[in-house]
Amino acid sequence: MCGIVGYTGPRESLDILIGGLERLEYRGYDSAGVAIVGEDGRLRVRKDQGKLQALKDLVAKDPVNGNFGIAHTRWATHGAPNQVNAHPHTDQTEHIAIVHNGIIENCDALREALRAKGHTFDTETDTEVLSHLIGEYWDGTLEKAVAAALRLVEGAFGVAVISDLDPGKIVGARKGSPLVVGVGDGEYFVASDVAAILQHTNQVIYLADDEMVVITRRGFRTQTIHEIPVSKEIEEITWELSQVEKGGYDHFMLKEIFEQPRCIQNAIRGRLDDDGWKAHIGGLNLTDEELLRHERVVFLACGTSWHAAMIGEYMIEEYCRIPVEVEYASEFRYRNPVIDSKTLVIVISQSGETADTLAAMREAQRRGATALGICNVVGSTIAREADGGMYIHAGPEIGVASTKAFTSQVATLAVFTLHLARLHGLSDEPARSLIHGLRRIPEQMEKILASEPKVADIARHYYHHDNCLYLGRGYNFPVALEGALKLKEISYVHAEGYPAAEMKHGPIALIDENMPVVFICTKDSAYDKIKSNMQEVRARQGRIIAVATEGDTQIQSLADEVLYVPPTVDALVPLLSVLPLQMLSYHVAVLRGCNVDQPRNLAKSVTVE
Ligand code: AGP
Repeated sequence: MCGIVGYTGPRESLDILIGGLERLEYRGYDSAGVAIVGEDGRLRVRKDQGKLQALKDLVAKDPVNGNFGIAHTRWATHGAPNQVNAHPHTDQTEHIAIVHNGIIENCDALREALRAKGHTFDTETDTEVLSHLIGEYWDGTLEKAVAAALRLVEGAFGVAVISDLDPGKIVGARKGSPLVVGVGDGEYFVASDVAAILQHTNQVIYLADDEMVVITRRGFRTQTIHEIPVSKEIEEITWELSQVEKGGYDHFMLKEIFEQPRCIQNAIRGRLDDDGWKAHIGGLNLTDEELLRHERVVFLACGTSWHAAMIGEYMIEEYCRIPVEVEYASEFRYRNPVIDSKTLVIVISQSGETADTLAAMREAQRRGATALGICNVVGSTIAREADGGMYIHAGPEIGVASTKAFTSQVATLAVFTLHLARLHGLSDEPARSLIHGLRRIPEQMEKILASEPKVADIARHYYHHDNCLYLGRGYNFPVALEGALKLKEISYVHAEGYPAAEMKHGPIALIDENMPVVFICTKDSAYDKIKSNMQEVRARQGRIIAVATEGDTQIQSLADEVLYVPPTVDALVPLLSVLPLQMLSYHVAVLRGCNVDQPRNLAKSVTVE
């Protein structure tokens, strides 16, 4: 997630801007920059790849002073994380500078239209297109140019814009990416997160979608991008700064669990076509013919990404009817695997830097396979070395235990599966169901997240157990594995995931009143079978926590606790059934006094073998 800070007032802006960016560093970024209008009235931009220290060194060597400016930390989504792609970007005349959070879906069309008018671009970023569009509409009033440009934008934005042609003014706007206005004593701020400005003021205004703010030294006014005035209440922030960085949540992991509805929107944004019931995937770098040439798929991953890969296996076999295998990357690379040019290797990695996964991908490519990367970190090694791929657009995942990245991986795999399946002849009806199902997931996730208090209450009754079994069938088998891993890695409880039917081949020996069992038993083709498994556990005094489909009252006679999720297409059930398990593991870990965001012995990215 990128960071935005803007300031206008009597004070020197540089330290305020960089200090604000420092407050946003926790969100993760790969480049940073500032644009300030100097005392000589000229707009100057300083930006560089890397961390804030690189920017500080740059402005130390080549100072820029002035009392209004904007600043940005970039989390690359389109275009590599380098100096050229860093924000701020300027328009053709270099009199207007902009910083932007979000994704402009129609930036290619806008870029071509501007090129036809003689515009030339230095980068492939969508933000530079927006800066040129604003320049194209410049008529002497900055807010009019910004509003006119934003009315043409499809997608998400949080922007701050300044110009040396309109001194002292900052124009901010948002749609889908948060932007807050700070009201100080004769000075004003904009920021993507209150954490950046809380040390200066706790009086803020939160813009709503399609709203703008026009800030001058004399005050501010708010309007829509259609130039209709709107009145906004000034709110007082009562959080402590440490809380603000986590968005008011106690831990990054909980914040990221609750970010998932928005992450799924970002993962599918611009990738689903309701007209042809098909998917649009930029960056795959494989033509339809090249994709069809591959006769089998092999997934390579580790940990939670391996669980997402298992769901991808079930999806692709169900919808594309081609053979799929899932390999632990660490095992794959040492066992002389059977791989050739007809093998499509799909490499899943949140960080894009996991050593085992990277090495396995290189081994597969050496043997002639085509590799697609499903990554979160833009410009990461796996993303760069793969032959093509898809970013999951989950934003930086700070908590070591992966949550939003997992569901974003699954949603991205569903989009890819749709694309491949239509090439393999999937008919309209299942394609339509998959698209409609994906579009409903964010609202369905919100509904499940609202059950957090009930999950916390269940955790209070079970957190003292040192063992736990997770059982599921079909698409819920990988969910059982993921639920067990979540509990294991943050609460240090020994938890195992199994296919429910496998229990009678050994694990049932463990069942007694001290072994709670979590059944993921949503209504699907295996529902009746899994109910039998639940009866087997009940008969041995096992205590059961069930994740079931809304409206399923039968299950209450078989379980001690029931957590409900809305119904959806089988292949999308994991996007919902995993949420109660994420929340359960979180609350158990908190009750056990564990370090939820940085569990012992673990790293966010395992870059060693
Ligand atoms: C998941 O909660 C863990 N943090 C871990 O299993 C992780 O999924 C694994 O190390 C793979 O990481 P990657 O997705 O960045 O490759």
